[in-house]
Amino acid sequence: MIKVDVHAPSSILGMDKQHVDLTQAQQSLQNLFDKNVQGSEWLGWLDTLLLESNKEELASIQRKAAQLQSISDFVLCIGIGGSYLGAAATMTASLRYEAKQLAPEVRFVGTHLGASELKDLMTELEAPKHDGTKKRVSIIVISKSGSTVETGVTFRILRAWLKKHHADEAKDRIVAITSSSSGSLRTLALEAGYDTFVVPDDVGGRFSVLSPVGLLPIAVAGLDIEELMEGARKQVKEIQQDPVDVLTLASTRKWFMDKGYTIECLSSFDQICSGLIDWVQQLQGESEGKDSMGLFPASAFYSRDLHSLGQWVQDGPRILFETIISLENPSAEIEIPSDDQKDGFEDLAHKPLSWVNESAKKGTIKAHYEDGIPVIEVKLPDATEASIGAFFAFYMIATGVMGDLMGIHAYNQPGVEAYKKEMLTILRG
Ligand code: PA5
Repeated sequence: MIKVDVHAPSSILGMDKQHVDLTQAQQSLQNLFDKNVQGSEWLGWLDTLLLESNKEELASIQRKAAQLQSISDFVLCIGIGGSYLGAAATMTASLRYEAKQLAPEVRFVGTHLGASELKDLMTELEAPKHDGTKKRVSIIVISKSGSTVETGVTFRILRAWLKKHHADEAKDRIVAITSSSSGSLRTLALEAGYDTFVVPDDVGGRFSVLSPVGLLPIAVAGLDIEELMEGARKQVKEIQQDPVDVLTLASTRKWFMDKGYTIECLSSFDQICSGLIDWVQQLQGESEGKDSMGLFPASAFYSRDLHSLGQWVQDGPRILFETIISLENPSAEIEIPSDDQKDGFEDLAHKPLSWVNESAKKGTIKAHYEDGIPVIEVKLPDATEASIGAFFAFYMIATGVMGDLMGIHAYNQPGVEAYKKEMLTILRG
């Protein structure tokens, strides 16, 4: 389902694309499926992908989502990093306008500590609806550890707001997604009687989009989580039968890294892929930036950034390659109109806008790789939940393979822990 193409000058790849040897990546993929990799105790996400189905869990998530939909105009999702990026990516990418319109509006909060956004949000929620009635608000709080300051403090502020504005119902309007066994959020949820879902112990945050962490908010937003899971599982089966695309992605990235291309610029010509880029950026950045190694995952949005960062990409130092995330079928279409006013674009009248966009993409790829900037294209067929699920599965496996190729522990994040420790020392002495 997910396809990978590499555009690179032969001076970088060697005689031809086959010069990037897939044998080692094939071994790393085998190691991943055999759980013979560093951090193998964190491969719960792979077990879920290899299951035939998780119907019962999906059904209980769907029941809770339906209940939240029936009592809410807004659902505030509090979480940071892996505790929100997958759900946010799916909502940005999915084109189910009708389903999304019928569902409550899902807002992601708690990703920074500046006060202005929360103040504006509370003011907005306090204003009555068009019919004069009160806005109905619920909260999904997501923290595996339960100790993340950004999430905890935001939850404290919004919990107090909820108690004030939905006094008697506050408890029934809060769902906590956290560890099954430890952490202060688990204790608080039990004491307060909130409904809870579990982040499995063997699934790290950035690999948790296909657990309740991603699935509950996605279902609340009216999207089809069964289709998402089916797409993900189908992708894994495809990889088991023919792994060439996942191996090409991992091997080529490793090859570029070893050749000194240390920046990977993740980009797209489809705005709806912006959340997927954020998700990949976190997945790869937090998994691979270890032991003084790792590609720096930058991001750019085209055409916008061709008129700013494009200059650096084209003429800057040769330490960057691009990974363009593309949709094979355009997400929407507009025909460029004819007009009796001359504006220099008469020749484009009646052409589809997607054709102009595709031409911009092809032109950019050619200009970049002919000038020594390698480009990898990762293609999703479309933006259905099945394709988005396939994309998540594909990238989680590709990241596991890359981790093994690099000889690192891809599933921990000691660097993130370092900042948390220093912040807590300042806060608490
Ligand atoms: O990938 C990860 O593990 C991190 O990005 C976490 O998801 C993030 O730090 C949030 O952690 P928690 O869910 O414990 O609040």
